Formats: sequence, C-alpha cells, structure tokens
Amino acid sequence: MTAVLSTPLLGRAPCVPDRPLRVGVLVSGSGTNLQALLDAAARPRSVFSVVVVVSNVDGVRAIDRARAAGVPAVVEPHKGKERGAHEERVHAALVAAEVELVVLAGYMRVLTPALLDRWRRRVVNVHPALLPAFPGMHGAKQALDHGCRVAGCTVHLVDAGVDTGPILAQAAVPVLDHDDEAALQARIQREEHRLLPAVVMAYARGLVVDEGGRVRVLGVA
Ligand code: GAR
Repeated sequence: MTAVLSTPLLGRAPCVPDRPLRVGVLVSGSGTNLQALLDAAARPRSVFSVVVVVSNVDGVRAIDRARAAGVPAVVEPHKGKERGAHEERVHAALVAAEVELVVLAGYMRVLTPALLDRWRRRVVNVHPALLPAFPGMHGAKQALDHGCRVAGCTVHLVDAGVDTGPILAQAAVPVLDHDDEAALQARIQREEHRLLPAVVMAYARGLVVDEGGRVRVLGVA
C-alpha cells in the first residue's frame, strides 16, 4: 500500500503551536463571522489571534467589532480604484501586520491571482451554501429557490474563481417548510460561526494538510 504523506500547509507539524497563528480577516459588512473569530481568539490559550481586519467598505459594523476587540481595522475602499492598485494596498496591510493566514469573512470581492499567488493556500473563505452548489451571492435564497431540503455552509481554500477552491469543511442544516431567506440564512450562519473558527484552529495546529495533492482537515467535519 502507498503511504499518503500529510504535509501541513503552513509547515507547522500537527501540534500545540508555541505561539498563536497570526490571522488577517477581510470583511465587507456586518462581521458576524469576524465576531466568531474574535471570540474564539480571545479564549485562554487560543492557537490563533486576529492581528488586523481589512474592510473594502467604510462604516460597516465589522470595523466596529474589530476596534471593540482592540484589533486594528484598516479601510481600503475599492470604489474608484483600479483593481490591481486596490489589491496591492490590501496585500501591504496584511504584510505590515505579519499575517500568516488570511480569512475572507463576508468579503464580497473576488481576489485575483496577483494577490492570491502571494498567499498560495493561505486564504480561506466561508460561503453560505454547500459548494459547489450556489456560488456567488445569496446562497440561502438560491437554495430556497431550488426547493432544496438541505442547505449549509462551506469553508474552502480560495483560488481565482468565485467560491471555488478546495473544500476544507462543510456543515448542513435542514430547510424547513416555513423558511424565508432570513430564517434560513440565520440557521446557516449559526453553523458558519462554529465551523470557521474550527477550521482556523485546525490550520493553526497544522491539521490542514495536503495528502498527496488533496487538501483536507484532520479532525473537523
Ligand atoms: C456570510 O454568511 C458569508 O458566508 C457570506 O457573507 C456573509 C457575511 O456575513 N459570504 C459570501 O456569500 C461569499 N460568497 P457576516 O459579515 O455577518 O460574517
């Protein structure tokens, strides 16, 4: 039988790390997933810390959440800027904070290879659907419109596509007869708030691994 080698993506051997992983979070809106990360990072002996939050939209709730937690929040508006120039500023903010892992938590911009190639396999995204179904906007509404009986969320590594890239973890929720978009979205988000910090913790512990070309998370659904 051929042995499958497990190689942690960040080069950390599976272990309790000697210092917290430095996480940068990109946001565009209300920031409930950011809050879940901030809460997890604030727990004693957390294996990761949120060291910077970058928003492409000014005045959003996510910025207040970052500042309330004592985390620097940088606003880099994309409007009126050429895409490459905007991404360059985002990249600079992440580098300045010595970020090791980038988390897209409700970040509503598609990143290009110009940025992603410099953060290869170090960018994760949370999406409110069971990918590869229903990428893009309004994952919960798309599930309702298709009459799905099961919906959910996905945490995945980011590539240059829209909500594509290797899937790391998923959680399913039922779709109930009386659901509207808001009710289903709320049920999905409860799972996002559990799953996203769990994946980041696994990453920090060296448990997100490449097994012979297939990326997977050891110990998370
Ligand atoms: C989340 O539900 C996230 O899955 C979704 O945006 C919401 C942000 O909420 N992301 C996408 O749809 C990405 N395609 P939040 O700002 O309260 O975390």
